[in-house]
Amino acid sequence: MMLSVENLSVDFRVDTGWIRSVDGVSFDLPANATLGIVGESGSGKSVTALSVLRLHAMRTTRMAGRILFDGKDLLAMPERALRRLRGRDIAMIFQDPMHSLNPVLTIGDQIGETLRIHQGLSGDQAMTRAAELLDMVRIPDARSRIADFPHQLSGGMRQRVMIAMAIACRPRLLIADEPTTALDVTVQAQILELLRELRAEIGMSVILISHDLGLVAEFAERVLVMYAGSLVEDAPAQTIFEQPMHPYSEGLLRAIPSPDEDVFRLYAIPGRIPDPGRRPPGCAFAPRCTLALPACSAGMPPMDTASPGHLVRCPVRLSEGIR
Ligand SMILES: Nc1ncnc2c1ncn2[C@@H]1O[C@H](COP(=O)(O)OP(=O)(O)OP(=O)(O)O)[C@@H](O)[C@H]1O
Ligand SMILES: [Mg+2]
Repeated sequence: MMLSVENLSVDFRVDTGWIRSVDGVSFDLPANATLGIVGESGSGKSVTALSVLRLHAMRTTRMAGRILFDGKDLLAMPERALRRLRGRDIAMIFQDPMHSLNPVLTIGDQIGETLRIHQGLSGDQAMTRAAELLDMVRIPDARSRIADFPHQLSGGMRQRVMIAMAIACRPRLLIADEPTTALDVTVQAQILELLRELRAEIGMSVILISHDLGLVAEFAERVLVMYAGSLVEDAPAQTIFEQPMHPYSEGLLRAIPSPDEDVFRLYAIPGRIPDPGRRPPGCAFAPRCTLALPACSAGMPPMDTASPGHLVRCPVRLSEGIR
């Protein structure tokens, strides 16, 4: 297995002490595969992704579990070894605009920097390669674009530049955290199509993170549904789309706007996700769940097998058996 996350927990230090942001997350990702992570805002998607590259502030973060990449535990690896891996073997497109493009550097300089650091290219070589990469992400007239500053590009083009930087070293794993959220629907589709093509071209695995289940299920072979820091369902995309078992996954599915539905009648799951540190005991979704029984609040139910390759954290649904 290329990537195995085993029982990952992440705690952050806040004024009042430590709070658990991600709790007992486990999943596998083979080489050359696509995985989607979906869940409402605050469910722990970005914290999980940043953990893979160990990008949390060390002094205020506590991590437990293992993240095996090629069998080596990234959480136990010395920082220096990890630095070599970042950007080269595992690349990330960040949700946080702080990590995005530098407004005072040209596109070419920014892509070139990655190439100089990781591949030791000279300035000229880096520029040539930067233009090739812009070509790869289908930016028209790439050679002249390398002299542009980020503000001279549209949002969609800027996102293509981010992708070019991420694939510069032909990573084996690309983590894309909400790569299309700020874009309009047409551009969104184009960017996902580009990611799909590049994945095939480079032969990398992609983790796509989004709050949009429709988007994730269309892109990825496998989908993880997260709620309040924990996984609640892990299944092939088609299963999540056609026969989700967890009531939360069902809610997300119902919340996808359908083209023939009135926008104003859009379904939203009643209630809201609890803040870390204020999670109810037992299943964190129970207070919002129409199926919840008293037992659901007694203890955190385990992830259990519904069918081969389909895990769900809902004893009520599991006891109903195959529907
Ligand atoms: N550095 C941090 N210190 C303290 N709490 C944090 C930190 N980073 C994230 N959190 C908290 O952890 C929880 C999970 O955050 P995360 O960013 O992973 O959510 P997300 O699923 O990516 O949401 P979104 O869809 O809004 O991006 C949130 O409640 C968030 O406030
Ligand atoms: Mg996020």
